[in-house]
Amino acid sequence: MKVLIVYYSMYGHIHRMAQAVAEGVKEVAGAEAVLRRVPETLSQEILGKMGALEAQKSMAHIPICTVDELATADAVIFGTPTRFGNMCGQMRQFLDATGGLWQKGALVGKVGSVFASSATQHGGQESTILSFHITLLHQGFVIVGLPYTFQGQMRIDEITGGSPYGASTIAGGQGERLPTENELASARYQGKHVATIASKLARN
Ligand SMILES: Cc1cc2nc3c(=O)[nH]c(=O)nc-3n(C[C@H](O)[C@H](O)[C@H](O)COP(=O)(O)O)c2cc1C
Repeated sequence: MKVLIVYYSMYGHIHRMAQAVAEGVKEVAGAEAVLRRVPETLSQEILGKMGALEAQKSMAHIPICTVDELATADAVIFGTPTRFGNMCGQMRQFLDATGGLWQKGALVGKVGSVFASSATQHGGQESTILSFHITLLHQGFVIVGLPYTFQGQMRIDEITGGSPYGASTIAGGQGERLPTENELASARYQGKHVATIASKLARN
């Protein structure tokens, strides 16, 4: 049972969350977690101007996903930073290349799930995840979120990401805030939850 974790991360926050998602997936017997990045669409020059080169180097060992690889997975958990309340352009471009899979119905019935990151607390994590779901529904994914049995999303004693729609983290205006223990726990929970449901579907 293969769970693909497909993400884009410019400064490393989604990358860290993706690692936690993978830890959660691996807690399920027989589940393999495969981490993949979507292709970059920005030039090195632009990435340099955006102060992202160091972070990009630290993620360079994660292989780039091909669209055909999506069809080999039982479940796909997508991770994206927020861009104006939506998924990032790199992820959009990757998904827009999946028309051939759509024609064949190659993703119908697979489990799909989304996690996100934004600079500010109310900067669009929920809208990013929910609008991402529209594409997943067109492709026939069975959408899985982050149920309230992950009690960490009830916390009000500290600022935290995470909603019923999916795990998320708040990066801060300068990217200075790292995913907290609670946010990483939400990502692990989502990974485990998706893998559990996918393994039940795979048995049928
Ligand atoms: C073009 C652009 C648009 C962005 N739009 C938003 C936004 O709408 N709301 C927000 O809180 N953060 C926004 N951000 C901040 C990113 O979401 C933040 O840098 C990202 O979540 C950090 O995750 P990463 O380190 O994995 O790239 C934006 C960043 C860029 C470059």
